[in-house]
Amino acid sequence: MSAAPRLIEAAQSVYAHAHAPYSRYRVAAAVLADDGEIYTGVNVENAVFPLTMCAERTAIFSAISSGAKCILEIAVVTENAGSPCGSCRQVMREFARDDMQVHIAGVDGSYRTRFLAELLPDSFSAGDLICGPDR
Ligand code: THU
Repeated sequence: MSAAPRLIEAAQSVYAHAHAPYSRYRVAAAVLADDGEIYTGVNVENAVFPLTMCAERTAIFSAISSGAKCILEIAVVTENAGSPCGSCRQVMREFARDDMQVHIAGVDGSYRTRFLAELLPDSFSAGDLICGPDR
């Protein structure tokens, strides 16, 4: 069963914590990890603009930092149901199968679901590395 409602609710609950004084574009994310826990994150901007961290990566790095190994499902909440950026798609791929569901939601809770493979087709991942962990 999809964890979409729980993940969207978790992301909505931290949406106000986004630190986005420069873009004014708040983003919140929540992931269900393989340890059964839900981890959240928000975008955290910086006066040195390139140092900004996206919400999806904040949530994923929180899960991994807590000992999770994989993410099973993710939701991202923005004002206009914007889609995850390319960098976040690649970081998702590091820790998820390419059939992971990505729920892309508005702050009102309406959402669409995409498979990671649709967002990042023909992806490069750890298994492609000649000396990677799978070899
Ligand atoms: N942002 C995210 O948090 N996730 C994305 O996938 C796209 C962009 C943030 C970064 C920045 O704080 C703001 O949205 C505008 O780019």
